[in-house]
Amino acid sequence: MEYTKNNSHNNILGVESSCDDTSAAVLVNGKICSNVIASQKVHEEFGGVVPEWASRKHQQNILPTVKSALSKANLNLQDIDAIACTQGPGLMGSLLVGHTFVKGLSMSMEVPFVNINHLDAHVLAHFIDEEIPPLPFLCLLVSGGHTQIVLVKENYQMQILGKTMDDAAGEAFDKAGKMLGLSYPSGPQIDQLAKKGNPNAFKFNTPNVGGLDYSFSGMKTSILYFLQKEVKKNPNFIDENIYDLCSSIQRTIVSYLLFNLNRAIKETGVNSIGIAGGVAANSELRCSLKKLARNTGSEAYIPKFEYCTDNAAMIAFAGKIKLEQKQFGKLTDVCYTRK
Ligand code: KG4
Ligand code: ZN
Repeated sequence: MEYTKNNSHNNILGVESSCDDTSAAVLVNGKICSNVIASQKVHEEFGGVVPEWASRKHQQNILPTVKSALSKANLNLQDIDAIACTQGPGLMGSLLVGHTFVKGLSMSMEVPFVNINHLDAHVLAHFIDEEIPPLPFLCLLVSGGHTQIVLVKENYQMQILGKTMDDAAGEAFDKAGKMLGLSYPSGPQIDQLAKKGNPNAFKFNTPNVGGLDYSFSGMKTSILYFLQKEVKKNPNFIDENIYDLCSSIQRTIVSYLLFNLNRAIKETGVNSIGIAGGVAANSELRCSLKKLARNTGSEAYIPKFEYCTDNAAMIAFAGKIKLEQKQFGKLTDVCYTRK
């Protein structure tokens, strides 16, 4: 398609719909002017995201969310020069809603769109505001679906140095929470309850799988067997020990994550480090990253809270980079579920 409107992309609309949050954001001359997120409460009672519900809710939410983002930025649709959209990874039905919406909008408005990798966008959230990390930069990307140690090089080229072999860190929080009777997503609740507990009360397994990779499935099983054994002896065990359990589970996950990040610092010699993704909202992880930075002579970078969990601001920002590189999307492009 020939894009006739103009060649400058000052006003970028970002759209995110990879999982259970519908989000739209507007970036004007490199600055975020709005970032609206419509969350879906419907999944809470199921202990995880129900894909069919997620896509149906995206369909309901996408238009009002985009309208709200435009109005908060004091712009009309006609003012938008380009659109950035999450292409994957994510839930197929969820991605399809946002991606198809954006392709239709791009065609009708005769403005280009760009496809954005959701994981790259989480890492790029570090570069949205004032305090941006120098490159090369080591980023621990921890979300509900992914756990990776990423080396960000010149021109934002990304190399994955380590990743989880099974569950993601966010998933480990959520599944542990489910065993404790907490609702989905459990990460934020464990974070809160952990503040009142003893992090050394209980010990859980974290395997060394070699290199900079992770595995969380063994930890999950060790929590399950431990709880089954204790509940057999005392049916009220979980309720009576909820603070210590949350605190110990959180300590196990955070120490494991940072153990490999520490290794990555030593192996690469890179000393600007950061965290990104939903689990980067975790208070112990944020605090421990700063400690690790002090101990290794590194500088720690943490994105603003609202840019950690899924949001379209990071998509719009990643879109700016792709537009500068003229990597436009095509109407024949399809979504993908895995990286
Ligand atoms: O990045 P994100 O919003 O969505 C995905 O791309 O997956 O991450 C969601 C994950 C969930 O697993 C949620 O439990 C976790 O981030 N999370 C947290 C906290 N806030 C969100 N985990 C631990 N502590 C938190 N404060
Ligand atoms: Zn995410």
